[in-house]
This record gives sequence, structure tokens and C-alpha cells, in this order.
Amino acid sequence: MTAPGRAPGHLRLGVNIDHVATIRNARGGDHPCPIRAAHAAAAAGADGITAHLREDRRHMTDADIARLVREIALPLNLEMAATHEMLAIALANRPHAACIVPERRAERTTEGGLDAAGQFNTLKPLVERLGEAGIRVSLFVAPEVRQIEAAARLGAPVIELHTGPYAHSDGSVDELCRLREAAALAAGLGLEVHAGHGLGFANVGAVAAIPELAELNIGHFLIGEAVFTGLAAAIREMRARMDAGRAGLAA
Ligand code: PXP
Repeated sequence: MTAPGRAPGHLRLGVNIDHVATIRNARGGDHPCPIRAAHAAAAAGADGITAHLREDRRHMTDADIARLVREIALPLNLEMAATHEMLAIALANRPHAACIVPERRAERTTEGGLDAAGQFNTLKPLVERLGEAGIRVSLFVAPEVRQIEAAARLGAPVIELHTGPYAHSDGSVDELCRLREAAALAAGLGLEVHAGHGLGFANVGAVAAIPELAELNIGHFLIGEAVFTGLAAAIREMRARMDAGRAGLAA
């Protein structure tokens, strides 16, 4: 689906605001406010807002999610673990989209992709319940044939490809090829394809150039860069690099 006013083939930018909440929570007050960051991201050209309600609530809180759904005009993509608790929260809040991610309490961030193949029977009812509620489900998976085929069999309309291994590889051509082949396979199976994790100014162009991608979700780098340039400038620069990558101008 192309957002109103966007050209067909527009690569959407979802801004992940989790780490605004990380900074807020470091002092336990209400500054900086992630909802204010979502409004600022919208004004700077973001196409969507992404927020991960972790089981340990280390950054976003239940109240943040409720406010984001109520108060922002952009679609909210709720990242969530495949648990009954998170399903109930998603159904109560009805975000535009829900991206199911693996979650381990000891991890610093989402470290691997979801095992869509191995957890097929757990994921199937979850994907169905979210879909029946009109929430667009995406599964965060590694660029692997087995996982992508399982996502399609699960009936999820969207997958998000894990770009972490590419992002941390210092530009590995093999990792980029894995992403390209995975995106082509997924699109061929009728899935909408998103990508994210570890993206920044240096690597976003090559990923944006993958023609099947419809959306990138980017958080940590943007919030970190905002310390130096402000959030709006960081988002505008990311947007420019995505557009250059799409236009084949990436270095
Ligand atoms: N996509 C998914 C599914 C994620 O879990 C994350 C991290 O929360 C991101 C994208 C954004 O990753 P980063 O913060 O490294 O840009």
C-alpha cells in the first residue's frame, strides 16, 4: 500500500523510537518524550513509527503504546514477541501493523530472526488472530529460504528481513546478496518485504537499492545521530540516502 501523496515504489521509512524511551527511562521521568519524538519524525518525513514493547519494558511502556496509537497520525508498527500477553496488548491497542520478533531477556537488542519454520504451530494462531483484527502482520526473519517459505505458509502478508549480519559485516557482498535473493524470493511468494536492524548512513544506500523492498525500519542510528544534528536533520539525511540508493546513486 502506498501512503497518500507518495509515488508508487516509494521506499517507506519507519522510524523506531525505542531509544528515546531508553534515554527517558535512564532518569525515570518523562523527558525525552517518545510521543514528541514521533511527532518530530512525522514532521521530518517519516512514513511510519515503530516501537518495540519488550517483555521487560526496558524502553517503551504500555502507556507509550496506547498514546502512540491514539495521538500520532502515522501508522504504528508494534514490534512484539509471540506471547499471549503481547497478543492481548496488540488486540487492545490495534496498531496498524505488528512485527513479530524473537525476544530473549538477556539480549541487548533483537539478535536473531524469528524461527518461523520451527515455531510454526505457535505462530499460526497468533498470525491469524492479529490478521482477523485488521492488524498487518509481519515476521522478522533472517534472509533464509526456509524461514521465508515458512512465513508465506503462515499466511503473514509481510516479512521484515534482518539486515543485522549485513550491517555488522563491513559491506560483505555475500551478505548483501543474501538479502537481495531473499527479497526476490519473498516478493515472488507474494509477500511485502521490509528490512531493518543496524542500518545507518553508511549502509542504507545498498539496502535501499534492493527493488523489492517496500519499507526500512531504522532506530538506534537515527536516535544516536540526533544527539549531534537533531532528529529532523538525521531523518532527512537518511531519507536522502535511501532515495539515492533507490535511484542507483549509492556509492
Ligand atoms: N526491525 C526490527 C524487527 C527490530 O527489532 C529493530 C530493533 O528494535 C529494528 C528494526 C531497528 O534496528 P536498529 O535500532 O538497529 O535500527
